[in-house]
Amino acid sequence: MRQKITGFHLDSEGHWVADLECGHRQHMRHDPPWTMRPWILTEEGRRSRLGVELECKRCDEAGRVVAEAVREALKTASLQAYEDGGLSGLCAEGRWELAVDALGTTDLLPVIRRALAPSPRGRAIETPRMILRPIRPEDASAVQRLAGEREVAAGIPHPFEDGMAEAWLASLNARAHVFALCRPDSGELMGVAGLMEAGEERPHTAELSYWLGRAHWGQGLGTEAAQALVRYGFETLGLESIHANCFSRNPGARRVLEKVGFRHMGHKPRALRHLGQDEDLELFILERRHE
Ligand SMILES: CC(C)(COP(=O)(O)OP(=O)(O)OC[C@H]1O[C@@H](n2cnc3c(N)ncnc32)[C@H](O)[C@@H]1OP(=O)(O)O)[C@@H](O)C(=O)NCCC(=O)NCCS
Repeated sequence: MRQKITGFHLDSEGHWVADLECGHRQHMRHDPPWTMRPWILTEEGRRSRLGVELECKRCDEAGRVVAEAVREALKTASLQAYEDGGLSGLCAEGRWELAVDALGTTDLLPVIRRALAPSPRGRAIETPRMILRPIRPEDASAVQRLAGEREVAAGIPHPFEDGMAEAWLASLNARAHVFALCRPDSGELMGVAGLMEAGEERPHTAELSYWLGRAHWGQGLGTEAAQALVRYGFETLGLESIHANCFSRNPGARRVLEKVGFRHMGHKPRALRHLGQDEDLELFILERRHE
């Protein structure tokens, strides 16, 4: 969706960001020879771009969220009408007619309002030493820099080439609850943690994953992030269980899961091939406690 530029500001790393009329933002880098935008460096150049329209990926994402909510509401309404028709003793043809009528009469406005309303799902989480905020497209360069370190590549491609972070961020859908782990003072991105909901086949369950840049290991931050995500999964998303796995040769990742209370479920030899090597996996689960 195209949106006009209304202003510019500098981010915490000194890169220029365009403010769009929809309230979203987009990085505008001058990074020769790859990206040539010398105009961004001058006041006059920036002023000349005010009002220019850019494609806003975040608006497109909102469109996808609305589409998914509408699809779900129509599916539920038509199935319900079909089943009600069966209970009233209608023949198959009558039931189908009811189901098709329901597609035309369902009130979609409340569905769309709900889908667009700011929800606790999109809010930041505060822990004693971190802010976990929803990850956004402009985090791509920090993700590439940190996840590109060889030691961090447990399940992450290596080398982490140009464009991979952008492609990964663009691929995240409404089931992916992915947070940037940031320092509260500077906003610096230290790592990423997320919950990926399994979807309709296995409702109310998600898979946890997390990583920190090498410089941030060994201070308890991995455990702090995993704990925050677990709380978010059970309290905000209403999950019943969270799964996680780690490479068998990754004692740090395993220990994080144990400290957060995950139960070891099994060992899967040669479960996947990563960077030319067969990897065994350890499988873990954490179930919601019903007090
Ligand atoms: C796994 C990872 C997130 C751990 O982060 P961290 O902030 O260093 O972990 P913590 O400081 O919270 O440590 C948690 C526990 O693991 C232990 N631990 C951490 N690294 C370890 C290692 N290499 N070997 C043995 N134990 C280790 C710590 O001692 C601590 O246990 P303790 O409190 O009983 O002493 C980090 O190492 C990482 O990003 N690794 C690469 C990506 C990855 O493996 N992700 C997980 C797969 S989803």
